[in-house]
Amino acid sequence: MGKIAFIGAGKMAEAIIKQLLQGGWASPEEVIISDVDSDRLNKMVADYGVEAASSNQAAAENVRIILLSVKPQKLETVLTELAVVVTPRQIVISIAMGKSTQFIETLLPPDVQVVRVMPNNPAMVGSAVSVISYGRFAREEAREAAMDIFSFLGEAYELDESLQDQAMALSGCGPAYFYIIAEALCDAAVKLGLDRALALKLASGTMIGSGRMLAESGMNPSALKDMVTSPGGSTIAALEMLEQNSVRAAFYEALTAAWKRAKEV
Ligand SMILES: NC(=O)c1ccc[n+]([C@@H]2O[C@H](COP(=O)([O-])OP(=O)(O)OC[C@H]3O[C@@H](n4cnc5c(N)ncnc54)[C@H](OP(=O)(O)O)[C@@H]3O)[C@@H](O)[C@H]2O)c1
Repeated sequence: MGKIAFIGAGKMAEAIIKQLLQGGWASPEEVIISDVDSDRLNKMVADYGVEAASSNQAAAENVRIILLSVKPQKLETVLTELAVVVTPRQIVISIAMGKSTQFIETLLPPDVQVVRVMPNNPAMVGSAVSVISYGRFAREEAREAAMDIFSFLGEAYELDESLQDQAMALSGCGPAYFYIIAEALCDAAVKLGLDRALALKLASGTMIGSGRMLAESGMNPSALKDMVTSPGGSTIAALEMLEQNSVRAAFYEALTAAWKRAKEV
């Protein structure tokens, strides 16, 4: 039995496949992909040496793990196709935003093991954070397999499924928040006269360093911010401008908008 099939070979599937292959979790011949876009399939085969299946059903037959990586709007069609071939011996992992394990189970035969995961785009460099929830029929082997894959891609945390959409609004969408912050920082630095290439290195290095401080120091963000904010200094002058421009309020609204959108799909 093959190791893993990806149904939908788009951006997120590629991020995961790239890391699983690079890190040695799977060899190319253990990865099967299917997609409606044959150009996309050919590119993935050329870039990664994985096997392309002739259909979603052909991909899903005879693998241990089926990873559903189509857009949420396509999930029902895909599950209806797969229902004919999927068995309870297999593990079905969905990364589709907003789609519950119950929704997936309803479209598959009884007793199929379903896992829902929200990873994020830094999976591509082995620095994803993922949250994992389990369906009614998921056994220990499904839990172990999901943890094994997603901790291989970065950090993975189990989460009650009722909080999946809320976590998605933070970590699923989160890379885009940081990318536009980096872009804005670079533009502002260029305005001040810095070279753009150097500005990008300073912005990304500052993000990585600050992230490591948060993760490794055991201190909360507020205390870390206080550490770099001297009385009457430049940093507090900058923070005053961020407060005047309602940056905190913007994040409240952004995460709430993302969460509401997940419930609409
Ligand atoms: N991107 C992220 O950062 C991220 C993060 C966490 C979770 N996710 C989740 O990951 C999933 C995939 O997102 P993505 O950004 O990778 O999307 P994507 O790049 O559009 O990839 C989806 C792929 O599935 C193909 N597809 C469409 N219908 C299909 C079908 N019936 N059978 C097989 N393949 C089909 C699409 O082809 P066409 O383009 O021709 O339709 C496309 O190549 C989504 O459910 C999303 O919620 C994404």
